Amino acid sequence: MCGIVGYTGHQDAYNVVINGLRRLEYRGYDSAGIVLDTDNGSFEVAKTKGKVDDLVAVSENLKGRATVGMGHTRWATHGVPSDRNSHPHISNNGKLALVHNGIIENFDAIKTILTDKGFTFKSETDTEVLVNLIQYIMDTKPELDFSIAVRFALNEVYGAYAITVMHADYPGVLVVARLGSPLAIGLGNQEYFIASDASPFVEFTKEAIYLEEGHMATISLEKGVDIRSIKDNSKIDPVVQELKLNIEQIEKGGYEHFMLKEIFEQPKSIHDTMRGRLLVNEGIIKMAGICDHLEKFNNAGRIIIIACGTSWHAGLIGEYLIEEFARIPVEVEYASEFRYRNPIITEKDVVIAISQSGETADTMAALKLAKEKGAFIYGICNVVDSSISRITDAGSYTHAGPEIGVASTKAFTAQLTVLSMIALKLGSHNGTLSTGEFRNLIAELYAIPKKIEEVLETTHDTVKEIAKNYIGAQNFLYLGRGYNFPAALEGALKLKEISYIHAEGYPAAEMKHGPIALIDENMPIVIISPRKGHYDKIVSNVQEIKARKGQVIAIVNKGDDQVTAMADYLIEIPETSECFSPIVASVPLQLLAYYIAVYRGANVDQPRNLAKSVTVE
Ligand code: AGP
Ligand code: GLU
Repeated sequence: MCGIVGYTGHQDAYNVVINGLRRLEYRGYDSAGIVLDTDNGSFEVAKTKGKVDDLVAVSENLKGRATVGMGHTRWATHGVPSDRNSHPHISNNGKLALVHNGIIENFDAIKTILTDKGFTFKSETDTEVLVNLIQYIMDTKPELDFSIAVRFALNEVYGAYAITVMHADYPGVLVVARLGSPLAIGLGNQEYFIASDASPFVEFTKEAIYLEEGHMATISLEKGVDIRSIKDNSKIDPVVQELKLNIEQIEKGGYEHFMLKEIFEQPKSIHDTMRGRLLVNEGIIKMAGICDHLEKFNNAGRIIIIACGTSWHAGLIGEYLIEEFARIPVEVEYASEFRYRNPIITEKDVVIAISQSGETADTMAALKLAKEKGAFIYGICNVVDSSISRITDAGSYTHAGPEIGVASTKAFTAQLTVLSMIALKLGSHNGTLSTGEFRNLIAELYAIPKKIEEVLETTHDTVKEIAKNYIGAQNFLYLGRGYNFPAALEGALKLKEISYIHAEGYPAAEMKHGPIALIDENMPIVIISPRKGHYDKIVSNVQEIKARKGQVIAIVNKGDDQVTAMADYLIEIPETSECFSPIVASVPLQLLAYYIAVYRGANVDQPRNLAKSVTVE
């Protein structure tokens, strides 16, 4: 998750932009850059891989040189983090500068056309294609105004973006646009601010316009803020909002820990995972990695999913999804076991590696083995250009944004989202899913971010209270059935990792084959019991627990009665299809682990003995 800051006014633009970028640092990024209009139409650019401090080290000479400028913190999606790939990007004629958050999905096709027209590219980014497309439009239609040319260009691209553009011949003018990534305009006294959220300018003004989806704005001191529809140029009346944000709230985005911030980011991160890919109105899923290799998957003898830890749990849910919706056999393996047990792998197999970091040594080694044996290898990674993403034949990024807390949260739900899209796409392609079923399921999936928003709003305080009762617990059991069995495993792992309380996840029906011996009045049991999927069986399991005086913390759907009647504590979540319920149920499980750990005084973001990416065997 990267950031944009822009400024036009009377202050030193360098200071405003640099300080603004610092405020956006909590979002996570890998490079930073700035461009200033230093003398009515001459750009000064500085950019570098690394942090805002590194940018300052190479750009301090720009201090006090301009009152118009913009900056960017990049989280690489197209091309490695490097000085060259950092934003801003400048057009071939040197007249346009552009910063961009998001992804231009059809950049490759446009790049080919522009290359044929003689354009050259310094970076591997999709962004540099967009800035040159604007130049090309202005070259071929010189009568067009700058902002109209930007609009024309945006109508040629699809994907997701927030952009800010400057033109050397239009000093003091900033053109901004939004489709899928946020952008706010701060209205100051004879000055305007642009930023991905209001934190960079909250100290200067309390008035802001949040640009809506599909809108763009041309901003200048002379003409103010002119908002238009990107599609048809119709004029839009601005809605000015009063900011409630205080400076103190914006450290780590206002959260006490990155983990909590990342838990709360999930409505957005899941939306980001789907954006430009799950087109609910058109009723299609357009995800390059999978769409380009549908036959490979369809003709696969089987799919083998390899992963570790949380990603392995996502893999288990992936197995249920793909087998249910595409009827292709799936096996899920711990990467470390797979590589050492002399597995049978054939050229007909498709091997999917799931890894947040893309650097996990066990997963990497297992993948190499599969590649040597001729399998088609596919990656699901969060970190762009990570080692795993580089050795795979194809793949899908999860686009959850940087995950900093060691305990994986938003990356997990993003993995589930990608796996859901893969399963649904395969199922609709091979005819297992009818058009109607497919459309219903994608609409359900598309509604998940809203449901998670609701979960965060309605369960947070309850979970926090429940957590207080378990500060001294020594053991926990987590139970679930079907799709929620892996969710139980993941809930238990979260608790173990950050609170150091021993926890086990089990399929609820397995309880009677052993773990039931552990149940007494001191044993807390978290049971995931949504209405859809084996509910009656779960009710019986809860009865078995209560007969042995275990303490039941139940995750139920709103309006539940039977489990509710027996549970000691209840966490209510909205209903969704059984296959997507682990995405929703995971959120209170994350919160429960988080608050128990916090109350125990543990270092939640950096738990003992754990690393964010495990690059050793
Ligand atoms: C998650 O909370 C853990 N820190 C850990 O299990 C992690 O999922 C595992 O190490 C795999 O990491 P990866 O997804 O980066 O490959
Ligand atoms: N897709 C662009 C890039 O890779 C922008 C990434 C971002 O959102 O920071 O450069």
